[in-house]
Amino acid sequence: MLGALTPRTTVAVLDQISSPTARIIAGPRLLAALRERGVRTVVDGAHAPGMLARPLAGEPDFWFGNLHKWGYAPPGSAVLAVAAPYRAEVSAPVPSWEDAHGFPRAVEYRATVDYTALLAAPEGLDLLASLGAAKVRRHNAELVAYGTELLAGLPGLTPMPYDPELAMRSLRLPDRLARTQDEAAALREEIAARLGCRVLVWGWPTGGGLRLCGQIYNRAEEYERLAAGLKGLLDGR
Ligand SMILES: Cc1ncc(COP(=O)(O)O)c(C=O)c1O
Repeated sequence: MLGALTPRTTVAVLDQISSPTARIIAGPRLLAALRERGVRTVVDGAHAPGMLARPLAGEPDFWFGNLHKWGYAPPGSAVLAVAAPYRAEVSAPVPSWEDAHGFPRAVEYRATVDYTALLAAPEGLDLLASLGAAKVRRHNAELVAYGTELLAGLPGLTPMPYDPELAMRSLRLPDRLARTQDEAAALREEIAARLGCRVLVWGWPTGGGLRLCGQIYNRAEEYERLAAGLKGLLDGR
């Protein structure tokens, strides 16, 4: 990643956790290295709130994270954090009443937009807190590790490098499968229809991959059903 920088690089836009490959990309070490080189960091932390113990670790300059993925909040609720030196530069994309107040008020208050998701978001975060965020993280990470181990026993499925604290892991599929996004989507839907399991299947020209997650509503039997069914489904393809 650092090798891709040139003297003209002023901003790096990074995923904190990559969705298909389920890896931590914008971790504190990379953010520190970019800061040392005078590169501003914009971090897409869509998966971080609720899954990482410290979503803002490494102090990115600009960071946003969804509360509706691992924070049990309604879709459309997200947070934006901006480091102090840049706050004056942040304005809302559509003019509205509070613009004169600047960030954060001008960004938070958008006149007649629907605030329902944001107003309900604390309920989701309260649920996470009441269950015990650390306990939930441990449960989810252990469950996805178990599921990955089962799938890794199937011919042609290869676990990819992973970050143990995450509740997401990816495996490569045999190289003849999911070579395009359309093929990946078709396989994903077939898995859902035939096995009753929702997984992410991503496409790649040399064979795609399958990503698993673990959540509090998932049970070990679901991963066992997936592994047993996937064997038959992939056989002979
Ligand atoms: C890194 C990343 N950014 C953005 C998104 C999009 O999130 P949403 O459309 O739910 O806000 C996702 C979804 O998985 C993601 O993984």
